[in-house]
Amino acid sequence: MAAVRIDGKAMAEEIKQQLIKEVEELKAKGVTPHMALILVGDAEDSALYVRSKAKNCEAVGGFAEVHHLPEDTTIDQLMALVDKLNRDDKVHGILVQLPLPHHLHQYEKQVMNAILPEKDVDAFHPVNIGNMVIGDKCYLGVTAYACIRILENLGIDFKGKHAVVVGWSIEIGKPVTVLLFEKGCAVTLVHPDSDFVPYTKQADIIVTEVGRPRAITGDMIKPGAIVIDTGSNFVDGKSIGDVDYDSAAQVAGYITPVPGGVGPMRIIMLIYNLVLAAKQKAGAC
Ligand code: GUN
Repeated sequence: MAAVRIDGKAMAEEIKQQLIKEVEELKAKGVTPHMALILVGDAEDSALYVRSKAKNCEAVGGFAEVHHLPEDTTIDQLMALVDKLNRDDKVHGILVQLPLPHHLHQYEKQVMNAILPEKDVDAFHPVNIGNMVIGDKCYLGVTAYACIRILENLGIDFKGKHAVVVGWSIEIGKPVTVLLFEKGCAVTLVHPDSDFVPYTKQADIIVTEVGRPRAITGDMIKPGAIVIDTGSNFVDGKSIGDVDYDSAAQVAGYITPVPGGVGPMRIIMLIYNLVLAAKQKAGAC
């Protein structure tokens, strides 16, 4: 039997409606969630992502200010802007779109770490990552949280499930491993450059961050498994997942498509973090 296709767009829409209500309540108290987005340079895909984040912020009733800095911006200029936004009381969330232009690559960590943890809606700051590992209240990385919310929405019992995460990054693989463990799963984290097939074949839940198009095929999946594909590999201008959807859907129980699965959820979880930041500032949570 073919797998159930997980509709990330519909799930994101439901969360968006909830956020609209929360923003209305905040506005009634005189607080408008306010996100500052910084884009350095002219990379088209980054500009597209920033526009989409700003649009989603405004769609729930928030305010987005976009700072588009020129390609030749210096690290001092960028740090000065982050500092100014940190000190601006009306700004609840700050996002610096990555990657930075080539001459600023070496400073990415420095820039991320300069954003105040309470304004770090990406949840890239070591304080937020550390709090997530400890299990303390904090912002959760948007992609990792998107995966968890999708699984929660399916209504599955996490306890005792074997989850296999194929990926390693601090944005996806590592945090999703911790969050699945917190939920009660036995979790195996495997490197995408290793032989991950013996692991994926045993998994009840697979989360992929492989970075190669269609790297996981149906024969690598246990029948009935839940497959969450965070991949977005651009091939001929099209976004292709890490999972070969057609063969995997013959075997899996549930599967996220690319596009239309984790992607729409990622962006709404960013807005969720922004609204949380505004609520915290307003003393509403
Ligand atoms: N570039 C690609 N994805 C992201 C993201 O989630 N946050 C930021 N800041 N930059 C990105």
